[in-house]
Amino acid sequence: MKVLIATDKPFAAVAVSGIRQVVEEAGMELVLLEKYTEKSQLLDAVKGVDAMIVRSDIVDADVIAAADQLKIVVRAGAGFDNLDLKACTSKGIIAMNTPGQNANAVAELAIGMMVMVARNFYNGTSGTELLGKKLGIHAFGNVGRNIARIAKGIGMEIYAFDAFVDPTVIKNEGITPVSSAEELYRTCQYISINIPATAETKKSINHALLSKMPKNAMLVNTARKEVINEDELVKLMEERPDFRYVSDVAPDNAAIFAEKLAGKYFFTPKKMGAQTSEANVNAGIAAANQIVDFLKNGIDRYRVN
Ligand code: 3PG
Repeated sequence: MKVLIATDKPFAAVAVSGIRQVVEEAGMELVLLEKYTEKSQLLDAVKGVDAMIVRSDIVDADVIAAADQLKIVVRAGAGFDNLDLKACTSKGIIAMNTPGQNANAVAELAIGMMVMVARNFYNGTSGTELLGKKLGIHAFGNVGRNIARIAKGIGMEIYAFDAFVDPTVIKNEGITPVSSAEELYRTCQYISINIPATAETKKSINHALLSKMPKNAMLVNTARKEVINEDELVKLMEERPDFRYVSDVAPDNAAIFAEKLAGKYFFTPKKMGAQTSEANVNAGIAAANQIVDFLKNGIDRYRVN
């Protein structure tokens, strides 16, 4: 049996060694395709493999069509919007993610970016502190919970909204649940977006919602750029010089930000929320174990299709 790691943005070497160990101890062979630049390289690499581990790599219908032996694909990470689930299902291929494994890394980045912007990008001028400020966590999943844990230590006043989480669960964590996204955005100077990109959430962070945020608003996006209505965000930021936006990866209209909103935003050059050795080890090894468990014992925990 062959297990392919196909990562355009490679795992840390220590994670690859850990994955190799799991795969080889199970009597399987590891094949590595890293930093590929053409889709054709991925189309070649998937031929003859039984399992595949990817990160944000696009596994579309062409990739699935080229995968003549593939039984399982695991997205080493949380968001699986890069997998064509329909194509997987139609060929009987199991798709999984590894929820929670990189959540702390993303949470630390979100908090780190908040501090960076509050301190005026460390430019030597007088900034502000997070202590006592209101933080709204938009979706209380694994990342949201980790952000809440860190923000508690900082002394932020924390609120959360999640349509799919019982408010008592949020309350039991010492966080104030609110009953709508509107209420969250109206209440909190700082908002952390942690919602998945789905048909319902795409472009849902729009002018109407963002305009409710209090003065000196800071929007922190470590979710997908697709959830933001980028044109409306630019419009709002032009109207509100107090509004700042930080995002893990640049929006599609980054050139407009550069032209019109200098000093009001920060974008990572590459998606790097999960880009730590620890997160790579956690997510990569979890993916390898899930593959071995499935291929040897038919266990399909964390299946998403
Ligand atoms: C995730 O959904 O887990 C994160 O976006 C991580 O993506 P990456 O593996 O491409 O860094």
